[in-house]
Amino acid sequence: MAKIVVANWKMNPQSKKEAEVLFKSTFLLAKVSQNTKIIVCPPFLYLYLSEKFKNKKVLLGAQNISKEEGGSHTGEVSPKMLSDMGAGFAIVGHGEERSLGETNKIINEKILNLLKFKLSPILCVGESTRDKEGSYLSFVEGQVKGCLLDVPKAQMKNIIIAYEPIWAIGASATREATCEEFMEIKIFIKKVISDIYDGKIAHSIPILYGGSVNPVNAKLFVDGGKADGLLVGRDSLDPKKLGAILNTIG
Ligand code: PGA
Repeated sequence: MAKIVVANWKMNPQSKKEAEVLFKSTFLLAKVSQNTKIIVCPPFLYLYLSEKFKNKKVLLGAQNISKEEGGSHTGEVSPKMLSDMGAGFAIVGHGEERSLGETNKIINEKILNLLKFKLSPILCVGESTRDKEGSYLSFVEGQVKGCLLDVPKAQMKNIIIAYEPIWAIGASATREATCEEFMEIKIFIKKVISDIYDGKIAHSIPILYGGSVNPVNAKLFVDGGKADGLLVGRDSLDPKKLGAILNTIG
């Protein structure tokens, strides 16, 4: 299976000009990268810029989506609008959104809304702290079960899960996750999926790692941790680093 690399630009860059430059370099990297599916998730208002550089190897996604289909919802963007812009994916349940009050129920509604319009959710799960007793496992189980509630079996082929431990994400990360920690949770998430659905679905669902991915640890997560791909934040804004990540896992 081709590896998946999600480039989560977050609230960057600060100008249209810089966004164009970043799209251009990302699309050039995609041209030469082997066996990797790249999903670029820029801020909504830069999505249209990608049209200039269209290339089948780069897919487009958003960083969030409304749980509503349309209507009077100030500041929201619907799945239909997203799909009309040529995007096929949306990140949901990112830790930075959850910290603003997004619940598993809201994330579940967003997922069902995306699927209704044939878009693929990239569901982020992950605990904020790890305890020796292992209660982070039941926390992640609750997130997976709550967010996938009522998702029909036939739709599971459209779901991507990214494990992003809050403690390893962004500039305030307390430490890096290890590939063993990822491998443990990957097996655990697959077991949860297998309990809800079946072993076949559990086997085929891609589980990515995200949280301070860089050119050095990328290969460890993919080779040692058996990640199906990576969700990259800061280093996706630097073409040299993104290129190095793609090279090392390609
Ligand atoms: P990071 O962000 O790579 O900058 O830690 C990852 C993410 O939050 O998606």
